[in-house]
Parts: sequence; structure tokens; C-alpha cells
Amino acid sequence: MPLPSPLHTLFKLPDTGRPLLFLAPMAGFTNAPLRRICRRRGAALTYTEMVNDVGLLRGAEKTWQLLETFDDEAPVVAHLYGSEPATLAEAAAKVEQTGRFVAIDLNAGCPVHKITANGAGAALIKDPPRIHDILAAMRKAVKLPLTIKTRLGPHPDKVMIFEILAAAESAGADALALHGRFTSQGHGGEVQLDLLAEVKRRAKIPVIGNGGVRSTADAGRMFRETGVDAVMIARAALGNPWIFEEISADLVAGNEPSAADASGARPRRDLADIRETLEEHMASELTLSRLVRERYTLPRHVIDADEALATTFRCHLFRYLHGLKGSSHVRGMLHELRTPAEIRAAVASCLEREAAYRAETPGKQQGCGTENTLGD
Ligand SMILES: Cc1cc2nc3c(=O)[nH]c(=O)nc-3n(C[C@H](O)[C@H](O)[C@H](O)COP(=O)(O)O)c2cc1C
Repeated sequence: MPLPSPLHTLFKLPDTGRPLLFLAPMAGFTNAPLRRICRRRGAALTYTEMVNDVGLLRGAEKTWQLLETFDDEAPVVAHLYGSEPATLAEAAAKVEQTGRFVAIDLNAGCPVHKITANGAGAALIKDPPRIHDILAAMRKAVKLPLTIKTRLGPHPDKVMIFEILAAAESAGADALALHGRFTSQGHGGEVQLDLLAEVKRRAKIPVIGNGGVRSTADAGRMFRETGVDAVMIARAALGNPWIFEEISADLVAGNEPSAADASGARPRRDLADIRETLEEHMASELTLSRLVRERYTLPRHVIDADEALATTFRCHLFRYLHGLKGSSHVRGMLHELRTPAEIRAAVASCLEREAAYRAETPGKQQGCGTENTLGD
């Protein structure tokens, strides 16, 4: 991996001598708290959740809330979806005006029916001329770097990525993030590193590789076999934000992946780290929740920030505790956790059980299970 890469220049990233690892956009997950947690643990760049162009233009508060950022979490890319060049361009200009983002990204890969039925997300994969028109319109509307995140094609018999690459380059896009799967694969199945490598070979713009990276072994393989300028991680960062610093330290040190790493198992983590990170994540969720309550007019029935935290944090909680003794007990009682105090008590009891287990089995250093069970 030659450093610095063109992406350092494009996104104005400091050259830390480490390979570039990015947090991928994930709807429902990559809000400001998760982004900041990952950023502080080595993600060089993060993406917002996907944000609809028309919602932004209508001034829909729910849509604008998705673009809230913390002052200390930069650099963040705003990730937009839509299907019309004019509305995407206008929305991109509004997003640029917020001054919060280092780049604007077009979603051309989301396979969810609600999105594709409106001609957005993965529907664009079948129509490179439309991708060209959208990116060209966005290019005219903004000065920020402009990127696209897409897939190889609709299904393995129809590779479209080379047409998409050509469309993106001729429209003036500055980088391409490629999930090395087809739309028909959803988020499962094999990632086609050979196609990713061929795209990188042909591309004049930097390429960010994505798909199936859960360990140093996976990331090292993607960098080595494809030559991509950066690797983007999605699911494996959930409940495991340390993955960025761990992979980059290993790659810099040239550490051979251990057997546990190669199998995708998480390393056995310090329990104090888990507790502190959970606390930090919860505190950030509360800060965001309060900020949203200050800045937006929420409907009257909306619950207070503490209660909202218990609801939104459940999806992170069991992932942080995944593989620990007592985690299944917490998972079983997730819906009963209604306040931060109840969450803390559940976490404490799980970590106590795990500590007791470790004290009984001090020699065991195996990992904590794999994080490959998340849905799309
Ligand atoms: C819950 C979830 C939400 C996602 N939301 C988005 C999204 O909004 N935009 C997008 O381009 N990809 C989205 N993705 C796809 C990821 O960014 C990524 O391409 C995919 O999960 C493969 O990477 P991974 O194997 O590291 O998880 C989402 C994936 C998941 C699991």
C-alpha cells in the first residue's frame, strides 16, 4: 500500500503512515455517536447514514437530523440517495453549505426495495448513463470532492462496474467506493476481489474497496490482492469500533494474522475497554438526542432523551457484549431496559460474569466469536 495515497490529498487526511480504513455508511447505525467512536479508534474517514435528496429539499426535519455532526468528529462524508440529477444536485449544494462535510457521496448500491422502487440505490447500477447525468449535475453544483459507492452489477451474469466507472470518471467524480458484490447477493456471499482488482487497475480515480472485511487477514488480503487505496468496513465495526486501530497497527507491524484473526473471531478484549467505550457511546447518544431536541421541533409524543437512548442503544448493546458470558442473558432482556441506569446495570452484570469466567480459565486466550450474524 503506497502511502500517502491520492485519498489523503482528496479528503485532506493527515498521513499517519497507516493504511486507510474507513467506516462505511450504514442506514440506522452510522450516526454522529458511532462515527465519533470509530474515528477515535482509527477510522480515517466516516460516512453518514443515507440521506434522501428530496427530503432535504423539502426541509424535512427527520431527514436533516441525519446530517447532524459533532464538532470533533471530522472528517465525515455526506452520503446521499435519490434518482434525479436536478434534485440530487440541489440537495448536494445545500449539504455543502452546511460546511460540515469533506465530500459528498452518491449511493448507487442499496438493494432495499423501498429505495430501488424509486429508481435510487442499486436501481442506478443498471443505468450508467443516468449515473453519469446525476454525477455531472452534482459536479456542477458543488466544489467538494464527489464520490460514488456502488456494486459490481445487478447479478453475476451482468458485470456493470466498468461502465459505471467510465460514467463516474467522465462526469467528474473524484473517487469510487466499491462493494465487491452484486446486487443479487445482498450483503452475503463471496466478495469478488479479482473484479475489484481489475477496477482498480483500470481506474484513473482512487478506489475504495469494501465487503467482507472482518479482520487484519481480510483487510491485508484486500489491499494486497486488489491494490485499492483504502478499505471500508461496515458490519464488523458494529460493537467493535477497535477494529480500525487493531487492523492498522497489525498491518503497519506486518503482523501475520493469528489463527483467531484469520477465522474472523474477535480478540479477547479488555473488559475495562468495553465498559469505557459503552459509556462513551451512550454519553454521545444522549448528547445527540439532546441536540436534536434543541434544534428541531419534535412531535409531542416523542419520549425524552434518556428513554430514547434505551430504545436506540439496544442494537449496539448486544453487539458490544457479543461472545461474553452473560451476553445472551442481556440479549434476552433488551426490551426491558428502559433507562441508562438499567443498561449500566445489565452491562455490569455481564462483565462481572465474564470476569469470573476469565479468572477461572486464565490460560484461555481464544477470541469472542464472530460478528457475521448481522442482517442487511
Ligand atoms: C445495516 C446496514 C445498513 C447499510 N446501509 C447502507 C447505506 O445506507 N448506504 C450504502 O451505500 N451501503 C449501506 N450498507 C452496506 C455497507 O455500507 C457495506 O457496503 C456492506 O455491508 C458490505 O460491507 P461489510 O461486509 O464490511 O459489512 C449497509 C449495510 C448494513 C449492514
